[in-house]
Amino acid sequence: MKKTVTLTFSDGSPSIELPIEQGTYGKPVIDIRTLGAHGYFTHDPGFTATSSCTSDITYIDGDEGLLYYRGYPIEQLAYQSDYMEVSYLLLHGELPTAVQKTAFEESIRHHSLLHDQMENVFRGFRRSAHPMAVMIGVTGAMSAFYHEGNDLFDPKHREIVAHRLIAKVPTVATWAYKFNEGQPFVYPQNHLSYAENFLHMMFSTPCEPYVPNPVLARALDRIFLLHADHEQNASASTVRLAGSSGANPYACVAAGMASLWGPLHGGANEAVLKMLDDMGDVSRIPEYIKRAKDKSDGFRLMGFGHRVYKNMDPRARIIRETCYEVLDELDLRDDPQFKMAMELERIALEDDYFISRKLYPNVDFYSGIIFRAMGIPPSMFTVMFALARTSGWVAQWNEMLSDPAHKIGRPRQLYTGPERREYVPMDQRGA
Ligand code: CMC
Repeated sequence: MKKTVTLTFSDGSPSIELPIEQGTYGKPVIDIRTLGAHGYFTHDPGFTATSSCTSDITYIDGDEGLLYYRGYPIEQLAYQSDYMEVSYLLLHGELPTAVQKTAFEESIRHHSLLHDQMENVFRGFRRSAHPMAVMIGVTGAMSAFYHEGNDLFDPKHREIVAHRLIAKVPTVATWAYKFNEGQPFVYPQNHLSYAENFLHMMFSTPCEPYVPNPVLARALDRIFLLHADHEQNASASTVRLAGSSGANPYACVAAGMASLWGPLHGGANEAVLKMLDDMGDVSRIPEYIKRAKDKSDGFRLMGFGHRVYKNMDPRARIIRETCYEVLDELDLRDDPQFKMAMELERIALEDDYFISRKLYPNVDFYSGIIFRAMGIPPSMFTVMFALARTSGWVAQWNEMLSDPAHKIGRPRQLYTGPERREYVPMDQRGA
């Protein structure tokens, strides 16, 4: 028998029975869709207890520290798969066969070049523009290049959108960097893997040959894979909400990127490095820890804590290992900033304030250190996250539009403003 919950009211109003739904895993949810008809809405700022959709894509158990993409544990994917395969998995729901994987990779390669006219879009920005601003602007501008012929209810059309976005974001990301640096744009090379191609477009110049380092390419691929999706976070929910009206998908992904940019979401990895720079020396760690605990200060230790994980983020465990691999490869284990980060990690993990609140280092704590070691500047960190998360965003967007029951997203509110009042003409409003 289906479980239900009965809502009773202290003023004796008739009670309301609501069904309880149970997913494959996770907490049961109370289906409140009929509440409006009874004259009530629910109030949940920040959606801390609200499920906004059904989804088959990603599952997180924050208490246990588990993350599954389409049912596969993140650890198995990180060590045995790669970003292209995971992008296919997120989009299609199943691991590809060898033939399907080759065809997918070929399609991604085929779409990696930008329309020639898009160069002018980059050139419209000021040179010093933050690369994330350029990334959002250029991705949004893709809607001007690919608007006609998007039948959002045709799965084939949605697939082309998804492939185009996954294929083009590394080109957009690296060109945002090149434009900042005043270096010529580098075109994608189809014989390279996705991560190698990123390194090539980021670091090569026409002046000398460039061979991507395989250890760095592998590390980058793993970082992309670990960031590919994370269920209904702020940016994925933004993409879904924007897309729920049937808006152009490139514009929707640009909206997701804008949401990701904030320091409490994808901007945290840049904020971690900024914090380490400000700190400057191991001797100042206690001062920063003290500030993080002081509620009147407003300062938070960047790279610590997570809305969902109240245990070590499984991605953080893996990326920590990758961090050591990259630092070893580049002979940077003795780098003072890295040593400072490791000391901060050690002290915070032993501190009662962080232990009692279950604040562990998150994935952003380590990704910034890796990126900097690779020579990627902090202003590009959120861009890296956006690039990797694109496969998740398009999978979430595609899933939403594939659902015949999908509706435009339209939250309600608890209005606390003034009661109805009459307009006061200017000459009667006093001095
Ligand atoms: N430093 C110091 N105190 C913290 C921190 C922190 N980084 N994070 C949480 N707290 C405290 C917070 O003050 C609160 O204390 P109290 O109970 O005494 O009032 C308690 O821990 C619970 O915090 P919360 O604000 O209720 O937690 P939240 O779930 O709303 O916030 C968070 C999650 C990620 C926004 C927050 O931990 C934070 O601001 N972290 C720093 C920024 C960061 O690293 N963000 C990256 C998140 S991972 C990337 C992603 O998936 O997007």
